[in-house]
Amino acid sequence: MVEFRFDIKPLFAQPIIKVTSNLLPNTFRGDRRQCLDATTKMTEIIDKLGQLSATSQGLSKPVTTAQRLRMCDNQTIYLLADNEAGHNGAVLGLLKVGTKNLYLFDGTGKTRMVEQAPSILDFYVHESRQRSGLGKRLFQTMLNEEQWTASKCSVDRPSEKLLSFLSKHYGLKRIIPQANNFVLYEGFFNDGESGNGDGNGHDHGTPNGLHITNSPNTHLFGATYLGEDSNQRRGSQQQTTPNARLQQITQISPSGRYGAKRPTCSMAEVLRDAPQA
Ligand code: ACO
Repeated sequence: MVEFRFDIKPLFAQPIIKVTSNLLPNTFRGDRRQCLDATTKMTEIIDKLGQLSATSQGLSKPVTTAQRLRMCDNQTIYLLADNEAGHNGAVLGLLKVGTKNLYLFDGTGKTRMVEQAPSILDFYVHESRQRSGLGKRLFQTMLNEEQWTASKCSVDRPSEKLLSFLSKHYGLKRIIPQANNFVLYEGFFNDGESGNGDGNGHDHGTPNGLHITNSPNTHLFGATYLGEDSNQRRGSQQQTTPNARLQQITQISPSGRYGAKRPTCSMAEVLRDAPQA
């Protein structure tokens, strides 16, 4: 439980509040002086919970600070408190979500730019209250408020605990490999990863919010096959069926500056042109 020198009850009119870049609880009502007081206290709460989350994940600096939230118009922090705990009540957990424009691989290995993909950015329940259902309560409230579903969320560098949490509560097990730090689950692209996508985000060139690109990801990582049975398939040289393609991550050959022909070594030229002995 995280207690503060001030009474948190006026800030938590309900057990779970939402805070955005104005650093005020969504339930807040008050005059200018109260507003200033509330933002000062919310800053302290967010910074403290952000620091505890970082420590718990072994990160050198927090993902969540009030200063960062103030500068992001597309992020929301959900905070869970217990007003009955201690003298001043206690804050129990934090969940930060937002939207991101991401280059992502779908299940067929195509690179897509997804605009405003729902993203789970930071998640923490105090150690004294973990594994008692509070994380599920916080996460489910967020899904309802944002009108998201769990399989449509990208997750920024999830910990083992979060992977286990998503598996247990939302049945999310099958990951679509990505070249960045985000984890996606099957179902993120609505069409069973067949390539049509469902539009997690907003449209960028196609009617579904997904944009198949010739992106830096594709250029950078070269032709790769990451399916679990890649060695077996390579050995048997079997034709790739559409179904098998679902398992693959393939990328086009590098082109542009990443695919430029290597310059001929000048020593090789000297040797080639030298008169034969
Ligand atoms: N080890 C393994 N799995 C765990 C653990 C743990 N220590 N704690 C929670 N879980 C998973 C399990 O699936 C567990 O089910 P089980 O007890 O039957 O095994 C399930 O979560 C419990 O669900 P809740 O009680 O609803 O979740 P909880 O209140 O524990 O909150 C959370 C989950 C937020 C992941 C919490 O464990 C936590 O704060 N962990 C430390 C910080 C962390 O790793 N945060 C995620 C970072 S990555 C990111 O934010 C994008």
